[in-house]
Amino acid sequence: MSGQCRKIFLCGLIVMLAGLIFSSSALAVNPWKFPPLPPPWEYGNVLINRISTKDGVKPVGFSHWSHRLHYTCRVCHSELGFNMVANTTKITEEKNLKGQYCGACHNGKIAFASAPLTCARCHSGTISTGKTAMTALRCLPKTKYGNKIDWSYALYVGLIHPKSSLTKDYKPVTYNKKITIESAWAGTPPAIFPHDVHNDWLDCSSCHPDIFSIKKNATKHFAMKYILKGKFCGYCHLKVAFPLDDCKRCHPKMKG
Ligand code: HEC
Ligand code: HEC
Ligand code: HEC
Ligand code: HEC
Ligand code: HEC
Ligand code: HEC
Repeated sequence: MSGQCRKIFLCGLIVMLAGLIFSSSALAVNPWKFPPLPPPWEYGNVLINRISTKDGVKPVGFSHWSHRLHYTCRVCHSELGFNMVANTTKITEEKNLKGQYCGACHNGKIAFASAPLTCARCHSGTISTGKTAMTALRCLPKTKYGNKIDWSYALYVGLIHPKSSLTKDYKPVTYNKKITIESAWAGTPPAIFPHDVHNDWLDCSSCHPDIFSIKKNATKHFAMKYILKGKFCGYCHLKVAFPLDDCKRCHPKMKG
């Protein structure tokens, strides 16, 4: 081997070794197929059509981002009984008019009531409205994915003030333990789970015992392939909370 060639060979070897060391040490390699992300004003929107089309009205477009400005998740998902799975809650026009579900707020006092002129605001048949309305939120702290809004930081610094209850006697439970979820894959930095950030929005019962066991390290099969199927963290972080694409928010030590 000539001197020149030896240099090139050594150089190549170093690059290769560096690559090997790098890729096995916490570089974000994404072997999974993530669902495509909609534009920020559509992320977290739900087209509710359990019975609308069957009953001759257009499906209902519901936006999470426009509502979470005013209310935390627990108001709707703990107090008002909406399920966290689209098209499973038995919402009807009659129940809304009696003050249940949407009607708990859309009663003309908290928000616009159901009336001939407002039917189409809910029964719009689309989740693509809201692009213009979202420009009003451009001052909120940004992230790269989902609604592109850092909701937890916005709440923390007091830029938004969502109410935690519709009743006066609600008392929040404080539990701040930060959990480190060690990885099953060598070289993958652990995921972190901060309780305080979640309890700002949710109830203990949003997660315990249905999604996660409350016993120390008891949740089995905590792997990305299950999370991607909507289990565990994926229950919220595929649809409403920031999406899985944002690796470093859960794996803060991940590089790349
Ligand atoms: C605040 C939002 C909202 C408004 C305003 C509203 N609806 Fe609805 N409505 C819903 C939701 C949500 C459902 C459940 C849809 C589903 O599951 O497919 C629903 C269901 C319905 C249904 C099908 C089920 C049933 O109860 O028969 C009809 C019909 C209906 N609405 C008519 C109307 C009419 C007429 C108006 C105006 C007078 C109206 N809605 C206003 C949210 C709204
Ligand atoms: C103003 C009421 C309201 C608030 C606040 C709210 N949600 Fe929802 N959420 C709903 C409704 C309505 C549905 C649809 C239920 C159905 O169709 O059965 C829903 C559905 C969901 C779904 C299922 C989405 C899908 O596509 O399957 C998830 C996950 C969810 N919510 C999480 C959250 C989280 C997390 C928060 C807080 C950041 C939150 N929600 C705040 C009303 C609300
Ligand atoms: C906890 C209270 C609350 C509940 C429950 C609630 N809303 Fe709202 N909603 C509001 C408030 C507050 C506003 C903003 C004020 C207004 O527009 O009157 C709003 C605004 C809206 C708007 C106009 C802005 C936008 O998002 O495009 C629509 C449409 C809407 N809600 C649909 C629904 C539907 C459908 C449901 C039930 C599935 C529902 N809301 C349940 C409080 C609520
Ligand atoms: C909402 C939080 C969250 C996000 C976002 C997230 N992960 Fe994970 N991830 C976890 C949890 C929890 C585990 C299970 C504990 C562990 O293995 O670290 C995990 C496990 C892993 C593992 C170990 C192997 C496996 O299948 O369990 C790898 C590799 C991984 N994540 C890579 C990524 C990459 C790459 C991204 C971004 C494209 C990402 N993760 C985004 C929460 C998340
Ligand atoms: C967003 C989901 C979520 C919410 C909300 C939540 N937790 Fe947890 N909790 C978890 C996860 C994830 C773990 C870890 C599970 C595991 O490792 O098996 C956990 C673990 C725990 C543990 C075991 C701690 C340990 O040392 O391993 C306790 C106790 C607990 N939670 C109490 C609470 C209480 C009290 C609340 C309400 C104030 C609450 N949690 C709200 C997701 C949640
Ligand atoms: C029941 C719904 C739900 C589940 C399940 C859930 N989260 Fe979250 N998570 C949220 C919401 C809501 C936020 C607030 C930020 C947002 O909506 O984008 C959040 C925020 C976070 C943050 C951001 C903290 C910050 O300082 O900004 C991390 C990290 C996180 N979640 C990790 C996890 C991990 C890891 C899991 C699974 C072990 C998990 N979450 C399960 C709803 C959930």
